[in-house]
Amino acid sequence: MEVNTTAAASAGPIGLAAENQTHKHHHSHSQPYSHHHHHGIFPSKSVLIIIISTISVMILLAIIFIILMLRRVVKSTKNNGNIYKESSIMNNTSSRFIAQTTVAFNSSPDVKGGCLQGGNSGRSIRTPIVTAASRYKGVQVFSYKELEEATDGFSEANVIGHGGFGVVYRGVLRDGTEAAIKMLQREGRQGERSFRVEVDLLSRLHTPYLVELLGYCADQHHRLLIFECMPNGTLQHHLHSTNKHQPLDWGTRLRIALDCAKALEFLHEHAIPSVIHRDFKCTNVLLDQNFHAKVSDFGLAKMGSDKINGQISTRVLGTTGYLAPEYASTGKLTTKSDVYSYGVVLLELLTGRVPVDTKRPPGEHVLVSWALPRLTNREKVLEMVDPALQGKFSKRDLIQIAAIAAMCVQPEAEYRPLMTDVVPSLTPLVKNSCSSGSSRFQNHITSPRY
Ligand SMILES: Nc1ncnc2c1ncn2[C@@H]1O[C@H](COP(=O)(O)OP(=O)(O)OP(=O)(O)O)[C@@H](O)[C@H]1O
Ligand SMILES: [Mg+2]
Repeated sequence: MEVNTTAAASAGPIGLAAENQTHKHHHSHSQPYSHHHHHGIFPSKSVLIIIISTISVMILLAIIFIILMLRRVVKSTKNNGNIYKESSIMNNTSSRFIAQTTVAFNSSPDVKGGCLQGGNSGRSIRTPIVTAASRYKGVQVFSYKELEEATDGFSEANVIGHGGFGVVYRGVLRDGTEAAIKMLQREGRQGERSFRVEVDLLSRLHTPYLVELLGYCADQHHRLLIFECMPNGTLQHHLHSTNKHQPLDWGTRLRIALDCAKALEFLHEHAIPSVIHRDFKCTNVLLDQNFHAKVSDFGLAKMGSDKINGQISTRVLGTTGYLAPEYASTGKLTTKSDVYSYGVVLLELLTGRVPVDTKRPPGEHVLVSWALPRLTNREKVLEMVDPALQGKFSKRDLIQIAAIAAMCVQPEAEYRPLMTDVVPSLTPLVKNSCSSGSSRFQNHITSPRY
């Protein structure tokens, strides 16, 4: 600019004119001029601008990348925390049961070495299940092949019983343990539910008063439960079978009553959340070599966590003759429903009668209806006693057992005692019967086994 002005001044009037013109030009054409001027430095400035903007874009991208990476790290840390929390819940036997631990048995896992291993599909889904299952304390996962070997190909000779779940086989496991192997035959959702409930519950409930679940098999479509074998079979057999060898003596009956009371007390009071058995009856009371009783069959059990306003509304499932009236008529299920069923079993121990017997004279078909008005009458109670006892029982015990049974089978649930009240009222009777020698396992009296 300055160069042009000086040049114009030295050019005289023309120069002035030129200067004016230049001025004019300067004013009126400053843009084109500067445009011309810029033309000279365009490459270096543009390159600078391009370089600067490229660098800033790169810095921006780097920042975005770092932010994304940081977010990922935070997310994965959170997830790891959750996994840790879940596994610690699974390891805690007294904790609430969570959905993740309900084993997804509808997969068809490959079986290696008797354990559920990742199969050809759904590996990512099954892997945590294997982890969950392997964490079940003491509960093994068996292959179908292993159980075939244990039962001699599920031979007829090894069948020990039939039940609602399916056939039960006697089997010898690879480590030599004798086991009762239940094969699920019930198709559909109810069967699958029973299977899951038994595995879920028995994996975390450990007490000598419940039949121990040794393991399970969910190999392809096969569903089997492996239990400790109870050599003396069911209470049903010893009380009601026509081919029983020797009737149960009074002391043994008291002891069985106490073992069962402790089993239900454990489910109602010690399990968290509490468990309602829902199918407590003589066929689900099994006896070991010393006639210690253990409760089995949790396929119908309900957990206290299913409660709505302190009770569970459910479809009525169970066995006729053992169902509490309020549960049978409205489906309202509480721990008091089990107390009623327990009262029925107590009546069976006392009378040797089955809960429903249509072969008996009118008025005596239903055990509870027949027994209830008699239970508080000393003379009538004496007439009710199982003739198989041949008069070998303590009268005082009998009156007390009758009183407990009468309370348990009350039609109104709130009048029934809690199992935790039944246990201490039975304990002294069992102790007395042991010291007086009326029990076949007087040497086996123990303090609480859990
Ligand atoms: N752990 C076990 N040890 C020894 N025998 C058993 C064992 N579990 C079951 N049994 C035998 O198998 C039979 C069938 O048992 P299962 O529990 O399947 O049916 P249930 O109790 O008779 O009837 P429900 O299906 O209504 O419970 C029992 O009556 C018993 O004789
Ligand atoms: Mg059973």
